Parts: sequence; structure tokens; C-alpha cells
Amino acid sequence: MILSGSASQSLAAELAAELDEPLAPVEFERFPDGELIARIGDATPDRAVVVASTPTSDAHVELLQLQDAAREAGASEVVTVLPYMGYARQDAAFAPGEPVSARAVARAISAGTDRTLVVNPHEDAVRDFFDPTATVVDASPRLAEPLPADLVDPVFLSPDEGALDIAAAVRDAYGAGETDFFEKTRRSGSEVDISPRDAAVEGRDVVVTDDIIATGSTMSEAVGILADRGAARVFVACVHPLLARNAPTKLSRAGVETVYGTDTLERAASEVTVAPAVAAHL
Ligand code: R5P
Repeated sequence: MILSGSASQSLAAELAAELDEPLAPVEFERFPDGELIARIGDATPDRAVVVASTPTSDAHVELLQLQDAAREAGASEVVTVLPYMGYARQDAAFAPGEPVSARAVARAISAGTDRTLVVNPHEDAVRDFFDPTATVVDASPRLAEPLPADLVDPVFLSPDEGALDIAAAVRDAYGAGETDFFEKTRRSGSEVDISPRDAAVEGRDVVVTDDIIATGSTMSEAVGILADRGAARVFVACVHPLLARNAPTKLSRAGVETVYGTDTLERAASEVTVAPAVAAHL
């Protein structure tokens, strides 16, 4: 039985269809003091698959409650799917006095589950914060699906070397093209410098891929450089279309017409479902 957090409704439905498993009648309510409660109604799951992205602190609490409600209802196995794992980017104490937030949330989640799947976390190493070690699901090949079949001499490019694997996975799934990456230096939480390498993009179609678009700074900078260098069509794709704050307008001002994202987060850009990639591990 699939138990969905409030931020993963569409994906949970896709997954239920993919696995031919029922969806639990989960309901969410907020008490007058502001506290949340997620109820699973009269569901009596044998295996409970809790599917809950955690882009907010409230979503984290819902996830812990769904795990607990499943156990309370007698589930013999609880599997937790984190389509988008919040706090994953704080995977180290970057300055004295900071927490390793990814570890803190992973410990809390581990306490309520038999195993955990995480879709394209910022760094695969976060899997080691879970006990037992989480399984990383790579949904990035799915991003090839909405691309036009007639890309001209395509380059699949990542805005930094860390996301080159995603560019390569999308290229492999597309079936043609080269890969390349830019050099990125982050100046603050919302400002980045992108330095082009020798990427030859003039007259070629470019697909810029990343794990996540958060503030949109990275992608806007990258797309601006591609325009200056005479790229033909530019397509933007990411696994997690977080698109926080003014990211949509920032991207639009940079000339991005369409962002292709997945349903790990429910946004207008959630063009592709990761359900088949997740189902393969269930
Ligand atoms: C960073 O290494 C990630 O791969 C993304 O490039 C980054 O998190 C995107 O963030 P933003 O949209 O805020 O630039």
C-alpha cells in the first residue's frame, strides 16, 4: 500500500498505478496550535511504502507521522521513498557551529523505516547517513523523454563537474550527442560565477542538465553564456524543479523558455514521472 505525503500526491498515484498497489486514504489536518497530523484512516497495510518529498519542515513531520501510523496499523514492513530529500545539501558542517542537517534528518527517518530510497540526492554519500544505508535511485535518464527527437549535433552540458553524471545519463538515454561541463564558483546561497571551458556550442542544440534548480542562479548564468556563444536551441532539464522564490522569473529573464523537471516536486515544470525508476527498486 502506498502512503503519500502532501508534497508527493501525483507521484504516489503514478507509483500506485505502476506497482498496481492501492493508495491509502491519507488525510492531513492542522490543530489550532499549528501542529500537524497525517492520518492513514482505516488502512491496514502489510507493506507500507511511504512516499514523501520533504521540501519543507512540515513535510518532514508528516513523513515521520506516516511511518509511525503505518507501524501502528500493523505494517510488517515500512519502506520510505524520498523523491526529494530536503536538507540534503547541508551534508557537512561548512563552518564551526553548523549542523550536518542531512545526517540529522536521515537519523530521524531511519528510526521509522526498514529501508529508504532517495532519488538523486545532491551527493550520493548522504545514503550513508541512513541506517540501514539508503538506496540511491537515479531518475535522471527519464529527462531524455520530453526532448525533441531532432536535436542538432547536441551537447549535454552540466553547469558544474559534479552534475556531469546527470548530463551523461541523459545523453545515454537520448542516444546521441556529446557531454561537457562548466566550472562553477558559488559566491553565496543565491549567487554563482560560471566560467565556460572550451565547450564548442555554436550552432548546436544544447541541453543543460542539473540535479536541482533551486534559486535558478546556476542555470541562468549557464544559459546566458550559451546565448553569448551562439548556441542554437537551449533546453533546460533537472531532476528536482524546486524553483524557489523568484527562480521562474530569473530563468525567464535569462531566456529560458521551458524547464523540464520530474515529479519529485510538484511544479508546473514536472513534465516527467520518476515512478518507473522508483518502482524498479520496490
Ligand atoms: C549544486 O551543486 C547543484 O548541483 C545545483 O547546481 C544547485 O544547487 C542549483 O542551485 P541554484 O538554482 O540555487 O543555483
